[in-house]
Amino acid sequence: MKRVLEPELMEDEAQVKAYAEGDFEAPHSQFIERLRAFVDEPDFSGTALDLGCGPGDISRRFARAYPLSRVHAVDGSAAMINYGKLSTADELRPRINFIHGLLPAVSLPQANYDIIFSNSLLHHLPDPMVLWQVIKHYAGPGARVVIMDLLRPASIDEARAMVRAYAADEPDVLKRDFYQSLLAAFRMEEIAGQIAQAGLNLDIEQISDRHVFITGVTS
Ligand SMILES: C[S@@+](CC[C@H](N)C(=O)[O-])C[C@H]1O[C@@H](n2cnc3c(N)ncnc32)[C@H](O)[C@@H]1O
Repeated sequence: MKRVLEPELMEDEAQVKAYAEGDFEAPHSQFIERLRAFVDEPDFSGTALDLGCGPGDISRRFARAYPLSRVHAVDGSAAMINYGKLSTADELRPRINFIHGLLPAVSLPQANYDIIFSNSLLHHLPDPMVLWQVIKHYAGPGARVVIMDLLRPASIDEARAMVRAYAADEPDVLKRDFYQSLLAAFRMEEIAGQIAQAGLNLDIEQISDRHVFITGVTS
């Protein structure tokens, strides 16, 4: 099945509200568990960059997992950034800087970061190389990279079956987004090709029927 693009930014208020209130406990806790296994330093005190942070759930989970860290969380959607700011408790606010800006053009506060992570941005990008080039640009030497995204199923029927299996109880707008995201996602071999083209040395692993997890340390 060929890739079908979905709208790059999530800007519609109803869509953003549904996404921010959606139940992402399973994939987001899995993301942080795997990240913690990779960055096994509870006293990590560097600055992280969250690319395509959406309403910031993963930024907040990261900040709680690493109490000495700071996070710069970037998204091109003003509605998402507003949700991120409003959903962040007072005690985390000093450590999470939500930045409204479009990748790759946005100018970030730091020239490089100690860790760059991203969940579910890649499949939104018309040009996937944007993600890998931003990582190359902003990763300091020895920076950790942690990326999770959806994988494109082999057929429309498989995509529909995944929506039934994993989003049955979600509102229609989230079911539609999930379906469109599956069609817009990449296959394992496409992602491996992008990483090779960018000259990055990252490990890529399929961790479920619909998720890929990518880790590495930049040189
Ligand atoms: C599916 S959401 C993922 C949000 C969050 N990372 C999470 O896991 O909950 C993808 C986000 O990427 C943002 N996005 C897409 N293209 C972008 C770009 N070029 N620059 C910045 N943000 C972008 C969208 O606005 C959306 O909020």
